[in-house]
Amino acid sequence: MKGIILHGGHGTRLRPLTHTGPKQLLPIANKPMSQYALEDLKTAGVTEIGIIIGDVFPEKVKEYYGTGENFGVKITYIYQDAPKGISHAIRLCKDFIGNDKFIVYLGDNVLRRNLIDYTKKFQSSNSDAMILLCKVDDPQRFGIAELDQNDSGKIKKIVEKPKVPPSDLAVIGIYFLTPKIFDIIDRLKPSWRGELEITEALQMLMDDGNKIEYDTVTGWWKDTGTPEDIIHANKLVLDSIGTENQFLIDSDAEIKDNVVVGTGTIIDNDSCIIGPVIIGKNCIIGPGVQLGPYVSVGDNSNLKCCTIQDSIIMRDCNVNAKVDFDSSIISHGSEIMASDIPKKCQLLLGERSQINL
Ligand code: TTP
Repeated sequence: MKGIILHGGHGTRLRPLTHTGPKQLLPIANKPMSQYALEDLKTAGVTEIGIIIGDVFPEKVKEYYGTGENFGVKITYIYQDAPKGISHAIRLCKDFIGNDKFIVYLGDNVLRRNLIDYTKKFQSSNSDAMILLCKVDDPQRFGIAELDQNDSGKIKKIVEKPKVPPSDLAVIGIYFLTPKIFDIIDRLKPSWRGELEITEALQMLMDDGNKIEYDTVTGWWKDTGTPEDIIHANKLVLDSIGTENQFLIDSDAEIKDNVVVGTGTIIDNDSCIIGPVIIGKNCIIGPGVQLGPYVSVGDNSNLKCCTIQDSIIMRDCNVNAKVDFDSSIISHGSEIMASDIPKKCQLLLGERSQINL
């Protein structure tokens, strides 16, 4: 089986974070979100992977993943000139896929459980597609599946962002497909938002009498379209970090719960860290810093005097401010300074921002 990771799109809801790169490279617990997709595919035995790159700094994706060798996979890049829809992106992969069954993974989706069992199930089934469903609280935001009341194993209908949802079962961004989908996509018309929709392709596949199976995911799944989603995904991933690197902390600072610290990082004795927290390599934390819970700090960042919770500070940042951050995302290379008056704030900063509070 082959895999496709969708790395295109404009990520408009994540601006200004996406002014300088694709959203799928934004870090969650210090790892680009699309790397979770790539690792899930690899763990499921899928090592031939096509990455759809779009028109938002596609060279950054190539620079990070290269040939895939460092990640134990073989990558082919497929260029999509504009975000014309998920089905449009899939159609571009026809030659790459050939006659194989394949898995499409949206690069901004993060899943708790791995894909091993689902992949085995689809591999040995005679279905033309398999989708994964997850219960959600806000079904108006997602593609939603309506199950057949008379046959619980069957999907009746799939609708995109319904005003009156027929169920609370969202179709998550991981699709198990066969080359049959390509002919279906050729017959699709752009939707009201000008995109070739995956939900319409799946519906048409069903309407043509093809067999679509589904499975329900247990554990969490996160679609990270907005800053709030990213902070939530960071929290969910941090909840599962282990303590295996905890011994690296050579400090008398107050440290509680799971805290992972990279090599070369110095934590001042005067600081307090409450896990789950992940700190990258070569950082200087302190004096006077309170971190956590649920904070990720990227490599080479220096933090002084600040209090931070539920936030992502990316690499090469410098914070020297009596400031209390909550639910914030600070992009690479940003610098935050402040006067001595303590402040509370919530920030969403694009790359290399400089602010003086
Ligand atoms: P979306 O979140 O629907 O779109 P987007 O990334 O452009 O974001 P926004 O709505 O904030 O502008 O896309 C879902 C995933 O599919 C995401 O990983 C981007 C990817 N994608 C493509 O690769 N090509 C496309 O044509 C589209 C629409 C999305």
